[in-house]
Amino acid sequence: MNKLEPMKVKKITCIGAGYVGGPTMAVIADNCPEIIVTIVDIDENRINAWKYNPINELPIYEPKLGEIIERVRNKNLFFSTDISESIANADMVFLAVNTPTKTKGIGSGQASDLSMLESCSREVAKCSRGHTIVVEKSTVPVRTAEVIKKILDANLKKEDSSNPQQTFSVISNPEFLAEGTAISDLNNPDRVLIGGDNELAIESLADIYSHWVDRSKIIKTNLWSSELSKLTSNAFLAQRISSINSVAEICEVTGANIKEVSKAIGLDNRIGKKFLNSGPGFGGSCFQKDILNLVYLCEYFGLTRVARYWQSVIELNDWQQERISKLITENLLGNISSKFILILGFAFKANTNDTRESSAIQISLNLLEEGANLLIHDPQVNSKQISLDLRIEETTSLSPDTNYNNKDKGKWKYVNNLSNSFSQVDAVVILTEWEEYKLIDWKKVTKKMRKPAWVFDTRLLLEEKNITDAGLNYWSVGNGR
Ligand code: NAD
Ligand code: UDX
Repeated sequence: MNKLEPMKVKKITCIGAGYVGGPTMAVIADNCPEIIVTIVDIDENRINAWKYNPINELPIYEPKLGEIIERVRNKNLFFSTDISESIANADMVFLAVNTPTKTKGIGSGQASDLSMLESCSREVAKCSRGHTIVVEKSTVPVRTAEVIKKILDANLKKEDSSNPQQTFSVISNPEFLAEGTAISDLNNPDRVLIGGDNELAIESLADIYSHWVDRSKIIKTNLWSSELSKLTSNAFLAQRISSINSVAEICEVTGANIKEVSKAIGLDNRIGKKFLNSGPGFGGSCFQKDILNLVYLCEYFGLTRVARYWQSVIELNDWQQERISKLITENLLGNISSKFILILGFAFKANTNDTRESSAIQISLNLLEEGANLLIHDPQVNSKQISLDLRIEETTSLSPDTNYNNKDKGKWKYVNNLSNSFSQVDAVVILTEWEEYKLIDWKKVTKKMRKPAWVFDTRLLLEEKNITDAGLNYWSVGNGR
């Protein structure tokens, strides 16, 4: 390679075959047919599912992903558990492993657990050959690239006849895709951010993106700005949701209407319309984790007031889930013990099968704690996942036609067939905004429900008139009367 020219990348390896690694690499492979892309993971089941499953049964559900996988799988996109071999062959290695909140030790409950990132950096140090560009794709605390560099530099192997001299460039390229719209976000990003101090490495990655992204959208920054921009972008987005959810509560007590207020706020161009939908609180694997991480970072640097400011975004989100659970109980005559509640939607948003940090988890747990029996439906989430999230086994024989006396917690059962699930239920709670819930014929289902029956719409998905005309009571978030 000419030292003054950016490396022309021919082989990419991505470590981490998850919600980021899978779609991101599929889009690179689709747009860059001359590059061989291999996704590796320690999870053999996940890799086998990517490798062999039919395109409608991929390990993650993401609209339009199947079509791309069909085009590129086994052409220039490959999946493997042979991590060392794939690293040895690559010019560029993406690190797209998970960075969850630590659950033990220093910073527990706040700081990011970087052990997965550390272990794959060690693997890169051990197995790479010649010059390798290491791309930090995972969301990380500021200055994590320094840790990766330290690991790589401390393990440099000497050149020998079978192994060219190892060298590394570490750059940051955070991912901004949102689940449910990942493919269009990746194909048409608002911006691509590349941070680093090695111009040539940055150019090599920019060349890849420039296959389909206009160069004006490829932003280059220093490493730490890139890492911090990702954390704070998520914090800003989450803060908007907590802000609008706080306004929803004001609407409910003052007679204002959150849809009208959101519209009026969003029409100010300086504010903008997006991310002003009130709901049951934000979920997903990113917002809470990244804000906690930011709070930890602020506290570490002694920025107590800044830490407190961002912490309040999470507190408001927790409160939104708690207050919705409470008002369901209050409206159901102050008692939900042994009552049947149909939960519509368990994913953290529509068009994904991801349930990480979904508000449905905490709200369901709160209702179960009060003794309610839950029938839970989601078009993409299976019963096994719900059991794992609730940490309560499913009770398959649960039926509203039987009288229960729940002295303790309630039970739950998975619903396959939505149309048969309204019989004798006291309330329906919409927690995910799946389009198919808009098609429910309320006049038909009301006949089956036990009266007085309620519909709680935490997503502002339904037309109030359709519900009230059917003789049902309707509550929706932010709807003051
Ligand atoms: P994920 O849990 O879906 O996938 C991570 C994968 O990494 C898993 O399959 C796991 O088995 C694998 N892995 C962990 N350690 C490994 C190792 N040592 N070697 C090989 N494989 C290993 O996570 P995700 O949602 O794809 O997120 C990945 C990163 O991207 C996180 O830092 C996250 O914050 C960030 N991010 C996520 C999203 C999103 O929408 N999910 C968006 C932007 C950024
Ligand atoms: C988020 C960021 O949007 C994305 O840029 C980043 O890369 C990863 O984190 P994601 O969590 O996949 O993406 O979905 P997002 O659309 O941001 O929704 C997050 C949560 O906020 C969901 O629970 C969603 O229902 C909720 N939300 C979103 C609202 O309650 N109101 C809104 O107006 C928007």
